[in-house]
Amino acid sequence: MDFTGKVAIVTGAARGIGETTAWMFARRGATAVIVDINGEGAEKVAAEIKAEDLKATAFTVDVSNKDAVDAMVQRVFGTFGRIDVLVNNAYVSGGYAIVTETAQETWDRVIAVNLTGAFNCSKAVAEKMIPQKSGKIINISSGAGINGSLSSGVQYPASKAGMIGLTKGLAGDLAPFGINVNCITPGLIRTWEPEEMAEQATGWTLEKVARYVEVEVPLKRVGEPEDIAETILFLASDAASYIVGEVINVDGGGMLDSVAKRESLLGF
Ligand SMILES: NC(=O)c1ccc[n+]([C@@H]2O[C@H](COP(=O)([O-])OP(=O)(O)OC[C@H]3O[C@@H](n4cnc5c(N)ncnc54)[C@H](O)[C@@H]3O)[C@@H](O)[C@H]2O)c1
Repeated sequence: MDFTGKVAIVTGAARGIGETTAWMFARRGATAVIVDINGEGAEKVAAEIKAEDLKATAFTVDVSNKDAVDAMVQRVFGTFGRIDVLVNNAYVSGGYAIVTETAQETWDRVIAVNLTGAFNCSKAVAEKMIPQKSGKIINISSGAGINGSLSSGVQYPASKAGMIGLTKGLAGDLAPFGINVNCITPGLIRTWEPEEMAEQATGWTLEKVARYVEVEVPLKRVGEPEDIAETILFLASDAASYIVGEVINVDGGGMLDSVAKRESLLGF
């Protein structure tokens, strides 16, 4: 897949799946536009990419801030004269609490970043893609948006289910202009350090992660950021030009019924 001359905005690209995606776009010829609330992290990733003679630029933006998003999109378009790809990837989890203990601020912030942030970016970018009559928008949801999540409270699955609805709405709106909008629902992806998971106090330990993978993931491995990034690049490529409004699970089969699940639950 060659993205020479293309401009790809990736939100939440200072680390994790977003960072890997930005690198992959840059290695395949695109200018990677690294957008993150963590400006220092975004600048660092852009500098590392440029040090390899590849193209990248960084913006410090809170995607929930509409004015900041609009200004970033204007500057990107003003500089490069086109925007080919938007990956709505930035997120916060809000941690776990039972619904009765979930703070209003937690709910508001998670919806504001994960869902309204994706709306803000999509709206601003669509204004540039529509006259171009081309573009790809890829929304990063989660299996939690389909099945819920025992470790992420109510706000995270709600925001991620919203991402699927946003995808469907945008896809129908924008397809007549030659713009493809699709969605990916990752399973458990190795973007965290074990200490970070423990910090989130969601009950995850290394042993529990191993057991989860054994029982829940038929492929029997944790996903890597590259597993998601490759799917993002496929959806951003001409090879996916007839795919519209689709939701793709990239989860090692985690949503399937499996022998391991049955053995674990029922003993056979
Ligand atoms: N890692 C997984 O196991 C997993 C599973 C399912 C879905 N996902 C989804 O994949 C995406 C990436 O996950 P990850 O694990 O790479 O995350 P991560 O925590 O490693 O990175 C998220 C990035 O988003 C940035 N961010 C947070 N708030 C922001 C804001 N307001 N504006 C701009 N940037 C902001 C953070 O600074 C960070 O750099 C998310 O949408 C997540 O829901 C991840």
